[in-house]
Amino acid sequence: MSGRGGDVGNGQSDDDHELRVTKIRNGTVIDHVSGGLALTVLGVLGIDGSAGEVVSVGMNVPSDRLGRKDVLKIEKRELTQNEVDVLSLIAPEATINIVREYEVAGKHRVDRPEEVSGVLSCPNPDCITAGNEPVASTFDVLDEGVRCVYCETILGTDQADLIDHVDIG
Ligand code: CTP
Ligand code: ZN
Repeated sequence: MSGRGGDVGNGQSDDDHELRVTKIRNGTVIDHVSGGLALTVLGVLGIDGSAGEVVSVGMNVPSDRLGRKDVLKIEKRELTQNEVDVLSLIAPEATINIVREYEVAGKHRVDRPEEVSGVLSCPNPDCITAGNEPVASTFDVLDEGVRCVYCETILGTDQADLIDHVDIG
């Protein structure tokens, strides 16, 4: 048997039986990402392995809740608020687990914020945020997408379009 503590008992979940990617010691597990979206999530987080990050990805893993899901395990790294904000837009079902010394020390769903600042670039070339002015892009988060507070350009009725404009400073 593994060296896990006595807290597993009879409550062993399907995830334990279906564990495909090893547990991590310290870092962040982004769970319940829609199946097939893991590489997009890594892309918007700017994680490509070039900095030596230790990252494990499970794609299209069976999930009770979602049917299939992607799971990302990023070692020795916690997410910034801006990164969480972007995740809330592209992976609203995601759960973020902070792991410390093998234990889940924090677990939260991503919250769709009312506005996001400094994480998306406005597609309008005439927008004040597109010039050299020191103005951080800010978008109101609406049901139908996100809207630039300066020029009212709407972005994100198309998910790919939104992803294209992610720009985490
Ligand atoms: N995990 C990990 N390394 C650890 C602890 C947890 O990679 N040392 C992963 C688990 O594999 C799981 C996620 O972090 O993908 C959340 O762990 P846990 O809360 O133990 O799992 P569940 O209870 O199944 O989570 P949920 O209720 O959110 O589905
Ligand atoms: Zn704008």
